[in-house]
Amino acid sequence: EKDGFDHFMLKEIYEQPRAYRETISNRINHQLNTVDLSQEINLTEDYIKSIDKIHIVACGTAYHAGLVGKYVIEQLTRIPVEVDVASEYRYRNPIITPNTLVMVISQSGETADTLAALRESQRNGAKVLAITNVNGSSVSREADEVLLTHAGPEIAVASTKAYTSQLVAIYLFGLYLSQVRETHEDAAIAKYIQAIKELPAQAEKLLEFAPIIKQFAERFAKHEDLFFIGRSLDFAVSLEGSLKLKEISYIHSEAYPAGELKHGTLALITDGIPVIALATQEDIYEKMVSNIIEVKARNAYVLGIALEGDTELAKSVDEVITIPKTLPLLTPALSVIPLQLLAYYAALARGNDVDKPRNLAKSVTVE
Ligand code: F6R
Repeated sequence: EKDGFDHFMLKEIYEQPRAYRETISNRINHQLNTVDLSQEINLTEDYIKSIDKIHIVACGTAYHAGLVGKYVIEQLTRIPVEVDVASEYRYRNPIITPNTLVMVISQSGETADTLAALRESQRNGAKVLAITNVNGSSVSREADEVLLTHAGPEIAVASTKAYTSQLVAIYLFGLYLSQVRETHEDAAIAKYIQAIKELPAQAEKLLEFAPIIKQFAERFAKHEDLFFIGRSLDFAVSLEGSLKLKEISYIHSEAYPAGELKHGTLALITDGIPVIALATQEDIYEKMVSNIIEVKARNAYVLGIALEGDTELAKSVDEVITIPKTLPLLTPALSVIPLQLLAYYAALARGNDVDKPRNLAKSVTVE
């Protein structure tokens, strides 16, 4: 059932191109180059135009997909988006009105806190849209609207293809909102659709770098502390890379917004400490490079993640992994893949049980 892979996690990492195709399929109108969710989602045009804020609520990796969602939806629609972890949201008396769209994200659709947040939102008169992988799950049954991720069953405790297919579902939904609210020209939407269609093949190409990433992971596996830095979407992806590494390799790691380092955490950057620096966002690229120079000045060992064709970053880091070129909003769907592989190979090098890390369960149905 592992299809020749040593672990479910690796199999699921390699299933991502296929998961992308499934998540996209039947949701794009190829003639018009638009997103079409009308078969699945019954939100009226009037309702979509009346949404004045969005709350995204989820746990763990799904929460990290939500953080990407905030950037994506705000850029595509200019609707203000807040993101919360479900165990905080449900107890903080959030301001929910009938014009708030609450989006819950859950692979399993059974996470206790996420389900409780869904119910709390509905009690306050909000509509809830669920992004979930499991049709028939509690979340899918109780939500007002459901967008399935179609990633297929995920067995490994560490979530990989569920996260990336959540991202794709978010891109599609964000574009759908943008179309209805007419916040972008048709040509701009078409450009996004074209780039989304390229993601599966680009993910496939990226997976070919696995042997190189394995070498980096084996080097990092000897360390007890590691840092991920990035800005904007790269920071959101850093958080996911750090969680993945912690949960299966047990290496302590932190993800930091690169510009925030000098407000305290830079004190921890010492000789030889590994830093994984994501620099895929054109608009803040120069800022990111100056943060990298700061950690290099403290003798950190820096692995940079850059866009294909970037010849600059190599000058300021020790090693570079490049990801295929895509639109800035879509980079998380690619840049997370090397980080998943890093976590996997680091855990393997440390002799850990990759698919069943200590103290963790696949589905968290208790508080
Ligand atoms: C980490 C991981 C967890 C889950 C979290 C939410 O790899 O898998 O952080 O993302 O427990 O689970 P779902 O998405 O099923 O609600």
